[in-house]
Amino acid sequence: MGTRPVFMPSQFAIRDISLAPEGERKIEWVSLHAHTLNSLRRSHLEDGSLRGRRVAMAIHLEAKTAYLAWLLHEAGAEVAVAGSLRVYASHGANQAELDRQLLQTLDLEPDLVIDDGCELVSRLHQRRPQLLPKVRGASEETTSGILRLRAMQTEGVLKLPVIAANQALCKHLFDNRYGTGQSTLTALMSATNLLIAGKSIVVVGYGWCGRGLALYARGLGARVTVVEVDPIKALEALTDGYTVASLSEAASMGDIFITATGSVHVIRREHLELMKNGAILLNAGNFANEIDVPALAQLAVEQREARRHITEYVQRDGRRLYLLVQGALANIAASDGHPVEIMDMSFSVQALAVHFLANYARELTPGLHPLPEEIDREIASTRLRLLGVQLEEMTGEQKAYLQSWRSND
Ligand code: NAI
Repeated sequence: MGTRPVFMPSQFAIRDISLAPEGERKIEWVSLHAHTLNSLRRSHLEDGSLRGRRVAMAIHLEAKTAYLAWLLHEAGAEVAVAGSLRVYASHGANQAELDRQLLQTLDLEPDLVIDDGCELVSRLHQRRPQLLPKVRGASEETTSGILRLRAMQTEGVLKLPVIAANQALCKHLFDNRYGTGQSTLTALMSATNLLIAGKSIVVVGYGWCGRGLALYARGLGARVTVVEVDPIKALEALTDGYTVASLSEAASMGDIFITATGSVHVIRREHLELMKNGAILLNAGNFANEIDVPALAQLAVEQREARRHITEYVQRDGRRLYLLVQGALANIAASDGHPVEIMDMSFSVQALAVHFLANYARELTPGLHPLPEEIDREIASTRLRLLGVQLEEMTGEQKAYLQSWRSND
């Protein structure tokens, strides 16, 4: 793999250097399975567009993110990474430390930003506005970040062009759905060591993540109930064969509750009060506020670590409720995050979004922009080619037919 990325010395945050060899093996494992990124690296990333660029990244930091940072570095960019450390809250990092690391990342004075949850872009606008003129553009990884960026755009305060990487089909169709589905269920199973088959699992939110969570939970033999606020999504869930209910109805039925809404306090006091003894709660949404953890703590007469990653809250009436990783994203905080092949696709989107911004950001107006469709399709075509899958090609007759409106053509 060659050399590792060079980080700014002031930004080193090493908790245990003895873990470095294990980390290197994990990154190498990613490099061996990230076939799409490796191919796009040769065809696009190393054309010189990124040479001398300063890239600030704030994506949940683990081996796959490290590999993306390393590839950008190898393409000639200077890279600074913040760890989105709220997801490691259970390992001791707090909001103030996260904030400090994000601001340190901005000390790089980046001209390109890879963001996750709008963490860097919001700080750039609020805390480091003097750096904004130097930033060419940003790329946003997740649904929650897109929501914040849309709010900034609506208020007329967004001063940068931002590529909505999450909206690329090669991102959310696979990452949010299959990635979140598999990795969250993996985290649940390894943290609890409990059987999924036969359990009643309540999935709150039937968006891209919720669809994946419900799919994998059903695949493992659970009985799945979906809770939604959107009538179309609720009808889709019903038609997909799930039970649909309000959270007040589902609260007393569920053995396990998984939130994936991107909203705040979707599981609240009134729901916690109805839950069965032994109910397990976990979150797959980007921020650790979907489950009202302060309310859970207030309701409890006793609280202790039941197992690694699991806190037990004993209620006044003796019921025990269990919360994974303090309501942070369970698949990242209690497991290894998305499967490598999923992040191969998502980070191909990010790498080509940054490559696109390096070349064309000056032509974009401030605001959210989609990843150009041809880039999205190229990522899919590259992956299919590497998988040895052949596409059917349209004949000339078919192309003409599909472009014509005359009934006899
Ligand atoms: P989405 O917008 O496709 O779906 C969210 C769904 O939640 C919508 O259908 C919405 O109607 C529903 N919803 C909103 N408020 C609700 C409430 N109070 N009760 C019930 N349903 C409600 O969003 P997507 O892509 O599924 O993302 C959801 C969250 O997961 C976001 O925070 C996103 O950033 C995060 N995410 C997490 C990943 C992970 O690795 N764990 C991966 C990708 C996204």
